[in-house]
Amino acid sequence: MTAHGGVNRGGAAPDHSVIDLRSDVVTTPTEAMWEAMRRAATRAQPFGEDPFVGELVEVGAHLFGKEAALFVPTCSMANLLALMATTEPGDQVVLESTMHMVWSEGWSLAHPGGVFPRLLSGIRGVPTPEDVADAIAAPRFGRTPRSSLVCLENSHNNAGGTVLTRAQMMAIAEVAHRHGAAVHLDGARIFNAAAALSVSVSRLAEAVDTVSVSLNKGLSAPEGALLCGPRRIIDRARGAAERLGATSLHKAGIAAAAALVGLTTMADRLADDNNRAASLATHISEVPGLAVDLTTVQTNIVLIELTGAVAAAAFVARLAEQGVLALVRSPRHARFVTHRLIDDADVAKAAKAVDHAMRRTA
Ligand SMILES: Cc1ncc(COP(=O)(O)O)c(C=O)c1O
Repeated sequence: MTAHGGVNRGGAAPDHSVIDLRSDVVTTPTEAMWEAMRRAATRAQPFGEDPFVGELVEVGAHLFGKEAALFVPTCSMANLLALMATTEPGDQVVLESTMHMVWSEGWSLAHPGGVFPRLLSGIRGVPTPEDVADAIAAPRFGRTPRSSLVCLENSHNNAGGTVLTRAQMMAIAEVAHRHGAAVHLDGARIFNAAAALSVSVSRLAEAVDTVSVSLNKGLSAPEGALLCGPRRIIDRARGAAERLGATSLHKAGIAAAAALVGLTTMADRLADDNNRAASLATHISEVPGLAVDLTTVQTNIVLIELTGAVAAAAFVARLAEQGVLALVRSPRHARFVTHRLIDDADVAKAAKAVDHAMRRTA
């Protein structure tokens, strides 16, 4: 562990002494990214247009089949900017109630978003098109609020990394568009979803107006996210970013150069992360005191339930004693996330640590 408590794993020599399955944000840049950053450092522009940022947004927009893209520091910010660019204060925004935009970013919906979140329940993070239509169009007390945006998430973090198919997204988008609302997709892990569905990200995101994508997770870039969409919306999003203080991201080209390597070279390996998550989940499903719905393990996230006397915090603490890091998600839920720094041997060690933790605490 480093002095900051993180696992220091550079691109060259991964350190497998600690198996960090808390999140895929723990990935570190690859050697190719470090090299790209070193080269970019000599040319990145402190002011104005940066060539690396320019190339990243061009490649990103093309990859997602959208007109334009914006490079921003976080995916939360990309989501907020999509919202600010497509709504007016006081509008209603339709979201499934367990989306990341609600449970982790909900405060920014209130301010500076200034919108009313109309929360729907869903099955594995997906509301029905009928519920979406009802939320948009059904009058309340004789008044129909203006719904300008419907948000989706793919893969769906809180549902355990489940995927929305292209058909599911198209059906919801059709309803939203018919009622004049735009559709934003929180695609923080859309590349994991696309790998699971064997579809390109442009086809998967075809029906939505805007899509955000994290560069700092499975793709392993040090930081950043893209917001892709129609030029008109991306221009508005850029204006919103400026109002939030992100007027000039000085030397952003260094991060953009690494992100470009992530965007163009890392997606193909995400199927391995998905497969390793499935393998870990299968093992966990056989351990007494733990439950995992294997049908929800579709990408790189394994959400487990502690069904016996052992609470999630105690379970995660026992794992940490053995050098395996997981995340407590609720008093009875814990989460494992696979990523580039986790190989088959790590999965086997994590599985053993799970056995040991449950035996000790049974
Ligand atoms: C589904 C989803 N959306 C958005 C985010 C936010 O990403 P960032 O940490 O880059 O703001 C996350 C982070 O885990 C996420 O899981």
